[in-house]
Amino acid sequence: MGYIGSHTAVLLANSGHRVHIYDNLCNSNVGTLERIQKISSQKIGFTEGDIRDTEKLTNALRDEKIEAVIHLAGLKAVGESSQKPIEYYANNVQGSISLIQAMQAAGINTLVFSSSATVYGDPVYLPYDEDHPTKPTNPYGRNKLQVEEILRDLSVSDKAWKIACLRYFNPVGAHESGLIGEDPNGIPNNLMPVIGQVVNGKLLSLSIFGDDYDTPDGTGKRDYIHVMDLAEGHLAALSWLGSNPGCHTFNLGSGDSISVLDLLHHFEQASGQKIPYQVVGRRPGDLPEYYAKADKAEKVLGWKTQKKLSDICNSSWLWIKNSRQN
Ligand code: UFG
Repeated sequence: MGYIGSHTAVLLANSGHRVHIYDNLCNSNVGTLERIQKISSQKIGFTEGDIRDTEKLTNALRDEKIEAVIHLAGLKAVGESSQKPIEYYANNVQGSISLIQAMQAAGINTLVFSSSATVYGDPVYLPYDEDHPTKPTNPYGRNKLQVEEILRDLSVSDKAWKIACLRYFNPVGAHESGLIGEDPNGIPNNLMPVIGQVVNGKLLSLSIFGDDYDTPDGTGKRDYIHVMDLAEGHLAALSWLGSNPGCHTFNLGSGDSISVLDLLHHFEQASGQKIPYQVVGRRPGDLPEYYAKADKAEKVLGWKTQKKLSDICNSSWLWIKNSRQN
């Protein structure tokens, strides 16, 4: 029931799918489930459990008569993954193997896997397409790539598997209700949650990590994708997989590249507030710029982003305002 899972669950439920969530609540809480329920047109089931508890997972899959799995149960802080690599390999890689084993035991072979653009590493060319070399530069990125490789091996060994690896770019924004959004535990790492904490008075100002990159305004550029567009990508992948066995990889991004200052100014416009900021040194490991070539998802899945930067900032602002009251 993390950030992307909660938005995807709502979209699936409201598109007529029966949804059951399996989560250990390490980065969320049951309050999220209540809020998901409020904006979903049907009841969403929930089992609290760890992805590495293969037996519990198998029972949940069987009991709930699950037909397909969307796997988003990953730890995702890039910096933390270098400090606690074994925790990351155990949860992200071992956890994925446990999930595959549970799916095999329950006779399920349709899987959408949450991967990341971080598998590409330093750009050899831009935009990244799905054939760009993969050379991740941190344990988190290596986890994602290893799971993709495991899934490819699995699909070769058993032709019945239908797998989509979705390489997300930078998910931002929130559901239009303002009831769910990104709510990281502890100090956030990502740009939008940090902006949220500045607006809500939890942080004094935004630190911009470098304005001396080789980009028009000197700040880092990313491909920000609205989380509801991302959720739509999962839905599109799921229905396409129905008639397409094998293991397939898709970039989910907008194809646009936006600088930190651009995003900040759009957010200021949406919120009517000035966001105090200071420029500090570059964050180790940050790239100047990267963005997606998202043509494959459009051609094959019939999916592309629909939301604009203003939608991203308006929905984030609504969520941030609401979370201030909680
Ligand atoms: N930034 C700041 N100040 C902050 C936070 C971020 O200036 O306090 C800047 C970064 O330097 C970067 C941009 O904002 O230029 C975006 O940074 P994020 O931390 O939001 O996102 P990243 O691109 O670093 O990483 C994200 C996810 C990863 C994922 C990666 C690949 O956090 O999980 O995208 O798509 F792997």
